[in-house]
Amino acid sequence: MTEKRLRGPVLSFSARPTDADAPGVDYLDDAVVILRGERIHEVLPAQRFQRDGGDLRGCEDLSAGLIIPGLIDAHIHCSQMSVIASYGSQLLEWLEKYAFPAELAFASAEHAQLQAEAFLDRLAEHGTTTSLTFTTVHPAATQALFAAAARRNVRLIAGKVLMNRNAPDGLLDRGDGIDESVALIERWHGRHRLAYAVTPRFALTCTPAQLSRAGELLARYPGVYLHSHLAEHPDETRSMLELFPEARDCVDVYDRFGLVGERSVFAHGIHLSDAELERLHDAGSTIAFCPSSNLFLGSGLLDLERLDRFGVHYGVATDVGAGTSFSMLTTLGDGYRVAQLTGQSWHPLRALYTATLGNARALGWDDRIGRVAAGYEADLTVLQPVPGTVLADRIGSARTLAERLFAYLVLGQQAVARCYIGGALAYVREPAVP
Ligand code: GUN
Ligand code: ZN
Repeated sequence: MTEKRLRGPVLSFSARPTDADAPGVDYLDDAVVILRGERIHEVLPAQRFQRDGGDLRGCEDLSAGLIIPGLIDAHIHCSQMSVIASYGSQLLEWLEKYAFPAELAFASAEHAQLQAEAFLDRLAEHGTTTSLTFTTVHPAATQALFAAAARRNVRLIAGKVLMNRNAPDGLLDRGDGIDESVALIERWHGRHRLAYAVTPRFALTCTPAQLSRAGELLARYPGVYLHSHLAEHPDETRSMLELFPEARDCVDVYDRFGLVGERSVFAHGIHLSDAELERLHDAGSTIAFCPSSNLFLGSGLLDLERLDRFGVHYGVATDVGAGTSFSMLTTLGDGYRVAQLTGQSWHPLRALYTATLGNARALGWDDRIGRVAAGYEADLTVLQPVPGTVLADRIGSARTLAERLFAYLVLGQQAVARCYIGGALAYVREPAVP
Protein backbone atom coordinates (compact mmCIF):
# COMPACT_ATOMS: atom_id res chain seq x y z
CA MET A 1 0.00 0.00 0.00
CA THR A 2 1.47 3.39 -0.95
CA GLU A 3 2.10 5.84 1.85
CA LYS A 4 2.28 9.63 1.55
CA ARG A 5 3.22 12.04 4.31
CA LEU A 6 2.12 15.66 4.11
CA ARG A 7 3.35 18.29 6.53
CA GLY A 8 1.58 21.59 7.10
CA PRO A 9 -1.18 23.37 9.00
CA VAL A 10 -4.41 21.33 9.06
CA LEU A 11 -7.92 22.70 9.53
CA SER A 12 -10.86 20.33 9.87
CA PHE A 13 -14.06 20.07 11.92
CA SER A 14 -15.56 17.47 14.22
CA ALA A 15 -18.73 19.47 14.96
CA ARG A 16 -20.49 22.61 13.78
CA PRO A 17 -18.61 25.63 15.13
CA THR A 18 -20.03 29.00 16.05
CA ASP A 19 -16.67 30.75 16.03
CA ALA A 20 -12.94 30.20 16.33
CA ASP A 21 -13.09 29.01 19.94
CA ALA A 22 -15.79 26.42 19.37
CA PRO A 23 -14.94 22.84 20.32
CA GLY A 24 -15.68 21.54 16.79
CA VAL A 25 -12.67 23.30 15.23
CA ASP A 26 -9.71 20.91 14.85
CA TYR A 27 -6.70 23.01 13.98
CA LEU A 28 -3.06 21.95 14.11
CA ASP A 29 -0.51 24.58 13.21
CA ASP A 30 2.16 22.07 12.21
CA ALA A 31 0.90 18.57 11.52
CA VAL A 32 1.79 15.45 9.62
CA VAL A 33 -1.00 13.76 7.69
CA ILE A 34 -0.18 10.16 6.78
CA LEU A 35 -2.11 8.71 3.83
CA ARG A 36 -2.12 4.96 3.30
CA GLY A 37 -3.71 3.86 0.07
CA GLU A 38 -7.10 5.58 -0.22
CA ARG A 39 -7.42 6.52 3.44
CA ILE A 40 -6.02 8.86 6.02
CA HIS A 41 -4.03 6.68 8.38
CA GLU A 42 -3.06 9.26 10.98
CA VAL A 43 -3.05 13.01 11.68
CA LEU A 44 -0.65 14.12 14.38
CA PRO A 45 1.36 17.15 15.49
CA ALA A 46 4.74 17.25 13.71
CA GLN A 47 6.52 17.32 17.06
CA ARG A 48 4.87 14.09 18.15
CA PHE A 49 5.60 12.48 14.79
CA GLN A 50 9.26 13.36 15.32
CA ARG A 51 9.26 12.25 18.96
CA ASP A 52 7.88 8.89 17.84
CA GLY A 53 10.88 8.47 15.54
CA GLY A 54 9.33 9.91 12.33
CA ASP A 55 11.63 11.68 9.89
CA LEU A 56 10.22 15.02 8.78
CA ARG A 57 12.47 14.96 5.73
CA GLY A 58 10.25 12.20 4.35
CA CYS A 59 7.22 14.53 4.36
CA GLU A 60 6.04 16.78 1.54
CA ASP A 61 6.45 20.28 2.88
CA LEU A 62 3.14 22.14 2.61
CA SER A 63 3.86 24.44 5.53
CA ALA A 64 3.12 27.59 3.49
CA GLY A 65 -0.36 26.25 2.75
CA LEU A 66 -3.42 25.06 4.61
CA ILE A 67 -4.58 21.45 4.40
CA ILE A 68 -8.38 21.15 4.57
CA PRO A 69 -10.86 18.39 3.78
CA GLY A 70 -11.80 18.04 0.13
CA LEU A 71 -14.64 20.48 -0.52
CA ILE A 72 -18.14 19.17 -1.14
CA ASP A 73 -20.58 20.84 -3.52
CA ALA A 74 -24.18 20.01 -2.58
CA HIS A 75 -25.75 21.10 -5.90
CA ILE A 76 -24.21 21.65 -9.32
CA HIS A 77 -25.09 21.06 -13.00
CA CYS A 78 -22.36 19.36 -15.06
CA SER A 79 -24.29 20.32 -18.18
CA GLN A 80 -24.18 24.09 -17.70
CA MET A 81 -20.46 24.86 -17.81
CA SER A 82 -20.84 26.57 -21.19
CA VAL A 83 -23.40 29.09 -19.89
CA ILE A 84 -21.72 30.37 -16.74
CA ALA A 85 -21.85 34.18 -16.82
CA SER A 86 -24.85 34.54 -19.15
CA TYR A 87 -26.29 38.02 -19.04
CA GLY A 88 -29.58 39.59 -18.36
CA SER A 89 -32.23 37.12 -17.14
CA GLN A 90 -33.87 35.82 -14.02
CA LEU A 91 -34.63 32.16 -13.41
CA LEU A 92 -37.37 31.10 -15.85
CA GLU A 93 -36.07 33.12 -18.78
CA TRP A 94 -32.48 32.07 -17.95
CA LEU A 95 -33.53 28.42 -18.21
CA GLU A 96 -35.14 28.98 -21.62
CA LYS A 97 -32.40 31.17 -23.04
CA TYR A 98 -29.28 29.52 -21.66
CA ALA A 99 -29.66 26.33 -19.62
CA PHE A 100 -31.94 24.38 -21.95
CA PRO A 101 -29.88 25.05 -25.11
CA ALA A 102 -26.70 24.01 -23.26
CA GLU A 103 -28.38 20.80 -22.12
CA LEU A 104 -29.70 19.98 -25.61
CA ALA A 105 -26.10 19.53 -26.75
CA PHE A 106 -25.79 16.54 -24.38
CA ALA A 107 -27.86 14.48 -26.79
CA SER A 108 -24.46 13.83 -28.36
CA ALA A 109 -22.72 11.11 -26.33
CA GLU A 110 -19.36 12.39 -27.51
CA HIS A 111 -20.08 15.90 -26.24
CA ALA A 112 -21.32 14.44 -22.94
CA GLN A 113 -18.11 12.44 -22.48
CA LEU A 114 -15.86 15.43 -23.16
CA GLN A 115 -17.90 17.61 -20.81
CA ALA A 116 -17.87 14.95 -18.08
CA GLU A 117 -14.07 14.88 -18.13
CA ALA A 118 -13.84 18.68 -18.22
CA PHE A 119 -16.33 18.91 -15.34
CA LEU A 120 -14.27 16.58 -13.13
CA ASP A 121 -11.10 18.49 -14.04
CA ARG A 122 -12.75 21.76 -13.01
CA LEU A 123 -13.95 20.35 -9.71
CA ALA A 124 -10.49 19.05 -8.81
CA GLU A 125 -8.76 22.30 -9.71
CA HIS A 126 -11.14 24.12 -7.38
CA GLY A 127 -10.55 21.62 -4.58
CA THR A 128 -13.98 20.00 -4.80
CA THR A 129 -13.77 16.26 -4.29
CA THR A 130 -17.46 15.35 -4.00
CA SER A 131 -20.53 16.81 -5.66
CA LEU A 132 -24.25 16.18 -5.89
CA THR A 133 -24.75 16.71 -9.59
CA PHE A 134 -27.55 17.31 -12.05
CA THR A 135 -26.75 15.81 -15.44
CA THR A 136 -29.36 16.11 -18.23
CA VAL A 137 -32.37 14.14 -19.31
CA HIS A 138 -30.13 11.92 -21.51
CA PRO A 139 -29.25 8.56 -19.91
CA ALA A 140 -26.04 8.28 -21.95
CA ALA A 141 -24.83 11.62 -20.56
CA THR A 142 -25.41 10.40 -17.00
CA GLN A 143 -23.68 7.14 -17.84
CA ALA A 144 -20.70 9.14 -19.16
CA LEU A 145 -20.36 11.12 -15.94
CA PHE A 146 -20.55 8.04 -13.72
CA ALA A 147 -18.00 6.21 -15.90
CA ALA A 148 -15.58 9.14 -15.79
CA ALA A 149 -15.97 9.49 -12.01
CA ALA A 150 -15.42 5.75 -11.54
CA ARG A 151 -12.20 5.89 -13.58
CA ARG A 152 -10.93 8.73 -11.40
CA ASN A 153 -12.16 7.16 -8.14
CA VAL A 154 -14.23 10.29 -7.40
CA ARG A 155 -16.96 10.15 -4.76
CA LEU A 156 -20.03 11.60 -6.47
CA ILE A 157 -23.81 11.48 -6.53
CA ALA A 158 -25.63 12.12 -9.79
CA GLY A 159 -28.85 11.35 -11.56
CA LYS A 160 -30.54 11.54 -14.92
CA VAL A 161 -32.86 14.54 -14.97
CA LEU A 162 -36.55 13.73 -15.08
CA MET A 163 -38.72 16.16 -17.02
CA ASN A 164 -41.62 15.56 -19.32
CA ARG A 165 -43.24 18.96 -19.84
CA ASN A 166 -42.53 22.68 -20.21
CA ALA A 167 -39.14 22.29 -21.90
CA PRO A 168 -37.94 21.91 -25.51
CA ASP A 169 -38.84 18.59 -27.19
CA GLY A 170 -35.25 17.34 -27.22
CA LEU A 171 -35.11 17.66 -23.43
CA LEU A 172 -38.30 15.78 -22.59
CA ASP A 173 -38.46 12.19 -21.41
CA ARG A 174 -40.32 10.20 -24.02
CA GLY A 175 -42.10 8.21 -21.35
CA ASP A 176 -41.56 9.01 -17.70
CA GLY A 177 -37.80 8.32 -17.61
CA ILE A 178 -38.18 5.78 -14.81
CA ASP A 179 -36.95 2.68 -16.65
CA GLU A 180 -33.81 4.58 -17.70
CA SER A 181 -33.31 5.69 -14.08
CA VAL A 182 -33.66 2.10 -12.84
CA ALA A 183 -30.99 0.93 -15.31
CA LEU A 184 -28.60 3.64 -14.06
CA ILE A 185 -29.31 2.85 -10.41
CA GLU A 186 -28.66 -0.85 -10.99
CA ARG A 187 -25.45 -0.06 -12.85
CA TRP A 188 -23.94 2.62 -10.59
CA HIS A 189 -25.56 3.11 -7.19
CA GLY A 190 -23.23 1.87 -4.45
CA ARG A 191 -20.49 0.96 -6.95
CA HIS A 192 -17.01 2.50 -6.74
CA ARG A 193 -17.55 5.71 -4.74
CA LEU A 194 -20.82 6.54 -6.48
CA ALA A 195 -24.46 6.94 -5.58
CA TYR A 196 -27.63 7.77 -7.49
CA ALA A 197 -30.07 10.61 -6.99
CA VAL A 198 -33.56 10.53 -8.48
CA THR A 199 -33.57 13.97 -10.11
CA PRO A 200 -36.89 15.55 -11.08
CA ARG A 201 -35.71 18.95 -12.35
CA PHE A 202 -38.50 20.78 -10.49
CA ALA A 203 -42.22 20.29 -10.40
CA LEU A 204 -42.78 22.84 -13.21
CA THR A 205 -41.20 20.43 -15.70
CA CYS A 206 -42.70 17.17 -14.37
CA THR A 207 -46.25 15.88 -14.67
CA PRO A 208 -47.94 14.55 -11.53
CA ALA A 209 -47.64 11.05 -13.02
CA GLN A 210 -43.88 11.42 -13.39
CA LEU A 211 -43.45 12.76 -9.85
CA SER A 212 -45.54 9.90 -8.55
CA ARG A 213 -43.31 7.33 -10.30
CA ALA A 214 -40.24 9.13 -8.95
CA GLY A 215 -41.67 8.66 -5.45
CA GLU A 216 -42.21 4.95 -6.14
CA LEU A 217 -38.60 4.68 -7.27
CA LEU A 218 -37.35 6.17 -4.02
CA ALA A 219 -39.47 3.74 -2.04
CA ARG A 220 -38.05 0.85 -4.06
CA TYR A 221 -34.40 1.92 -3.55
CA PRO A 222 -34.16 3.34 -0.02
CA GLY A 223 -30.44 4.26 -0.26
CA VAL A 224 -30.99 6.46 -3.28
CA TYR A 225 -31.21 10.26 -2.94
CA LEU A 226 -33.79 12.77 -4.14
CA HIS A 227 -32.32 15.89 -5.75
CA SER A 228 -34.43 18.79 -7.02
CA HIS A 229 -35.03 22.55 -6.95
CA LEU A 230 -37.43 24.25 -4.56
CA ALA A 231 -38.72 27.78 -3.99
CA GLU A 232 -35.86 29.52 -5.76
CA HIS A 233 -37.71 32.42 -7.37
CA PRO A 234 -41.13 34.02 -6.72
CA ASP A 235 -42.20 33.51 -10.38
CA GLU A 236 -41.44 29.81 -10.04
CA THR A 237 -43.41 29.34 -6.81
CA ARG A 238 -46.40 31.20 -8.29
CA SER A 239 -46.43 29.02 -11.41
CA MET A 240 -45.93 25.90 -9.32
CA LEU A 241 -49.05 26.53 -7.26
CA GLU A 242 -51.03 27.25 -10.45
CA LEU A 243 -49.92 23.91 -11.90
CA PHE A 244 -50.65 22.02 -8.66
CA PRO A 245 -53.76 23.80 -7.30
CA GLU A 246 -54.50 20.93 -4.94
CA ALA A 247 -51.16 21.41 -3.10
CA ARG A 248 -51.05 23.51 0.08
CA ASP A 249 -47.66 24.96 -0.78
CA CYS A 250 -44.50 24.17 -2.77
CA VAL A 251 -43.12 21.65 -0.26
CA ASP A 252 -46.48 19.90 -0.38
CA VAL A 253 -46.18 19.62 -4.18
CA TYR A 254 -43.21 17.29 -3.63
CA ASP A 255 -44.45 15.78 -0.38
CA ARG A 256 -47.67 14.40 -1.81
CA PHE A 257 -45.55 12.25 -4.16
CA GLY A 258 -43.27 10.88 -1.42
CA LEU A 259 -40.30 13.05 -2.40
CA VAL A 260 -39.66 14.80 0.91
CA GLY A 261 -37.46 12.66 3.15
CA GLU A 262 -34.13 12.33 4.92
CA ARG A 263 -32.20 11.78 1.73
CA SER A 264 -33.84 14.68 -0.11
CA VAL A 265 -31.70 17.68 -1.08
CA PHE A 266 -33.54 20.70 -2.44
CA ALA A 267 -31.54 23.50 -4.01
CA HIS A 268 -32.38 27.07 -2.90
CA GLY A 269 -35.45 26.95 -0.59
CA ILE A 270 -35.52 30.74 -0.33
CA HIS A 271 -39.25 31.49 -0.53
CA LEU A 272 -40.73 29.12 2.04
CA SER A 273 -43.42 29.60 4.68
CA ASP A 274 -43.07 28.58 8.32
CA ALA A 275 -45.25 25.53 7.65
CA GLU A 276 -42.95 24.45 4.81
CA LEU A 277 -39.86 24.82 6.99
CA GLU A 278 -41.55 22.80 9.73
CA ARG A 279 -42.24 20.04 7.26
CA LEU A 280 -38.65 20.04 5.96
CA HIS A 281 -37.44 19.87 9.54
CA ASP A 282 -39.73 16.98 10.42
CA ALA A 283 -38.70 15.11 7.29
CA GLY A 284 -34.96 15.72 7.87
CA SER A 285 -34.53 17.12 4.35
CA THR A 286 -31.69 19.44 3.36
CA ILE A 287 -31.70 22.81 1.64
CA ALA A 288 -28.67 23.52 -0.53
CA PHE A 289 -27.82 27.20 -0.08
CA CYS A 290 -26.61 28.54 -3.46
CA PRO A 291 -25.55 32.13 -2.73
CA SER A 292 -23.63 32.86 -5.91
CA SER A 293 -26.52 31.68 -8.06
CA ASN A 294 -29.11 33.50 -5.96
CA LEU A 295 -27.23 36.78 -6.24
CA PHE A 296 -26.57 36.31 -9.94
CA LEU A 297 -30.16 35.48 -10.95
CA GLY A 298 -31.61 37.92 -8.42
CA SER A 299 -33.62 35.07 -6.90
CA GLY A 300 -33.57 36.27 -3.30
CA LEU A 301 -31.65 36.05 -0.05
CA LEU A 302 -31.79 32.84 1.98
CA ASP A 303 -32.33 33.53 5.69
CA LEU A 304 -29.86 31.16 7.38
CA GLU A 305 -30.84 32.07 10.94
CA ARG A 306 -34.45 31.29 10.14
CA LEU A 307 -33.43 27.83 8.94
CA ASP A 308 -31.56 27.34 12.21
CA ARG A 309 -34.61 28.46 14.19
CA PHE A 310 -36.70 25.83 12.43
CA GLY A 311 -33.93 23.24 12.72
CA VAL A 312 -33.76 22.76 8.96
CA HIS A 313 -30.42 21.30 7.77
CA TYR A 314 -28.68 23.32 5.15
CA GLY A 315 -25.69 22.62 2.96
CA VAL A 316 -23.96 24.92 0.52
CA ALA A 317 -23.46 24.70 -3.21
CA THR A 318 -22.25 26.50 -6.31
CA ASP A 319 -25.22 25.77 -8.62
CA VAL A 320 -22.98 26.26 -11.66
CA GLY A 321 -24.05 27.45 -14.31
CA ALA A 322 -26.42 29.92 -12.60
CA GLY A 323 -23.69 30.08 -9.97
CA THR A 324 -20.71 32.00 -11.29
CA SER A 325 -17.81 30.01 -9.89
CA PHE A 326 -16.75 26.40 -9.39
CA SER A 327 -14.94 27.56 -6.28
CA MET A 328 -16.64 26.55 -3.06
CA LEU A 329 -14.40 29.09 -1.32
CA THR A 330 -15.76 31.93 -3.45
CA THR A 331 -19.25 30.54 -2.95
CA LEU A 332 -18.76 30.75 0.82
CA GLY A 333 -17.63 34.35 0.31
CA ASP A 334 -20.90 34.98 -1.53
CA GLY A 335 -22.73 33.29 1.34
CA TYR A 336 -21.15 35.83 3.65
CA ARG A 337 -22.48 38.63 1.43
CA VAL A 338 -25.99 37.15 1.47
CA ALA A 339 -25.84 36.96 5.25
CA GLN A 340 -24.70 40.59 5.40
CA LEU A 341 -27.69 41.62 3.28
CA THR A 342 -30.03 39.88 5.73
CA GLY A 343 -28.43 41.56 8.74
CA GLN A 344 -26.59 38.38 9.74
CA SER A 345 -23.01 37.23 9.83
CA TRP A 346 -21.70 33.90 8.55
CA HIS A 347 -18.53 33.13 10.46
CA PRO A 348 -15.82 31.79 8.12
CA LEU A 349 -15.30 28.69 10.27
CA ARG A 350 -19.03 27.95 10.25
CA ALA A 351 -18.99 28.49 6.48
CA LEU A 352 -16.06 26.13 5.84
CA TYR A 353 -17.63 23.56 8.17
CA THR A 354 -20.76 23.72 5.99
CA ALA A 355 -18.77 23.05 2.80
CA THR A 356 -16.98 20.07 4.39
CA LEU A 357 -18.41 18.06 7.28
CA GLY A 358 -21.78 19.87 7.06
CA ASN A 359 -22.33 18.85 3.44
CA ALA A 360 -21.02 15.36 4.23
CA ARG A 361 -23.70 15.11 6.93
CA ALA A 362 -26.36 16.32 4.52
CA LEU A 363 -25.38 13.44 2.22
CA GLY A 364 -25.16 10.90 5.06
CA TRP A 365 -21.44 10.41 4.39
CA ASP A 366 -19.98 12.13 7.45
CA ASP A 367 -18.41 8.82 8.54
CA ARG A 368 -16.16 8.79 5.46
CA ILE A 369 -15.62 12.26 3.96
CA GLY A 370 -15.56 15.88 5.11
CA ARG A 371 -12.75 15.61 7.69
CA VAL A 372 -9.00 15.33 7.86
CA ALA A 373 -9.00 12.56 10.43
CA ALA A 374 -7.76 9.00 10.80
CA GLY A 375 -9.94 6.47 9.01
CA TYR A 376 -11.50 9.00 6.63
CA GLU A 377 -11.13 8.74 2.89
CA ALA A 378 -8.10 10.68 1.72
CA ASP A 379 -9.88 13.48 -0.14
CA LEU A 380 -7.88 16.60 0.71
CA THR A 381 -7.42 20.12 -0.59
CA VAL A 382 -4.36 22.27 -0.04
CA LEU A 383 -4.84 26.03 -0.14
CA GLN A 384 -1.92 28.32 -0.77
CA PRO A 385 -1.92 31.79 -2.30
CA VAL A 386 -0.02 32.45 -5.50
CA PRO A 387 2.97 34.58 -4.42
CA GLY A 388 2.68 38.28 -5.18
CA THR A 389 -1.13 38.37 -5.26
CA VAL A 390 -3.58 40.40 -3.20
CA LEU A 391 -4.52 37.16 -1.44
CA ALA A 392 -0.88 36.43 -0.55
CA ASP A 393 -0.52 39.93 0.93
CA ARG A 394 -3.75 39.60 2.90
CA ILE A 395 -2.85 36.14 4.22
CA GLY A 396 0.51 37.60 5.22
CA SER A 397 -1.14 40.27 7.34
CA ALA A 398 -3.78 37.99 8.92
CA ARG A 399 -3.41 37.68 12.69
CA THR A 400 -5.76 34.79 13.41
CA LEU A 401 -6.87 31.56 11.79
CA ALA A 402 -10.35 33.01 11.19
CA GLU A 403 -8.86 36.06 9.47
CA ARG A 404 -6.68 33.88 7.28
CA LEU A 405 -9.59 31.68 6.34
CA PHE A 406 -11.83 34.66 5.63
CA ALA A 407 -9.23 35.99 3.18
CA TYR A 408 -9.38 32.66 1.35
CA LEU A 409 -13.18 32.90 1.16
CA VAL A 410 -13.24 36.42 -0.19
CA LEU A 411 -10.12 36.39 -2.37
CA GLY A 412 -9.40 32.71 -2.93
CA GLN A 413 -10.87 31.84 -6.32
CA GLN A 414 -7.44 30.55 -7.41
CA ALA A 415 -6.16 29.48 -4.01
CA VAL A 416 -6.15 25.72 -4.52
CA ALA A 417 -2.60 24.46 -4.88
CA ARG A 418 -3.31 20.73 -4.70
CA CYS A 419 -6.18 18.33 -4.54
CA TYR A 420 -5.98 14.68 -3.46
CA ILE A 421 -8.75 12.26 -4.35
CA GLY A 422 -8.76 8.86 -2.64
CA GLY A 423 -5.13 9.38 -1.70
CA ALA A 424 -4.00 10.17 -5.26
CA LEU A 425 -2.86 13.60 -6.40
CA ALA A 426 -5.67 14.72 -8.72
CA TYR A 427 -4.57 18.32 -9.26
CA VAL A 428 -1.45 20.32 -8.68
CA ARG A 429 -1.23 23.99 -9.62
CA GLU A 430 1.55 24.81 -12.07
CA PRO A 431 4.23 25.74 -11.41
CA ALA A 432 4.16 23.10 -8.70
CA VAL A 433 3.73 24.44 -5.18
CA PRO A 434 5.88 24.82 -3.21
N1 GUN B 1 -34.71 25.32 -11.49
C1 GUN B 1 -34.98 24.35 -12.39
N2 GUN B 1 -33.93 24.09 -13.16
C2 GUN B 1 -32.94 24.89 -12.75
C3 GUN B 1 -31.59 25.08 -13.16
O1 GUN B 1 -31.08 24.45 -14.09
N3 GUN B 1 -30.88 26.04 -12.49
C4 GUN B 1 -31.42 26.74 -11.47
N4 GUN B 1 -30.66 27.64 -10.85
N5 GUN B 1 -32.68 26.58 -11.08
C5 GUN B 1 -33.44 25.67 -11.70
ZN1 ZN C 1 -29.62 24.15 -9.92
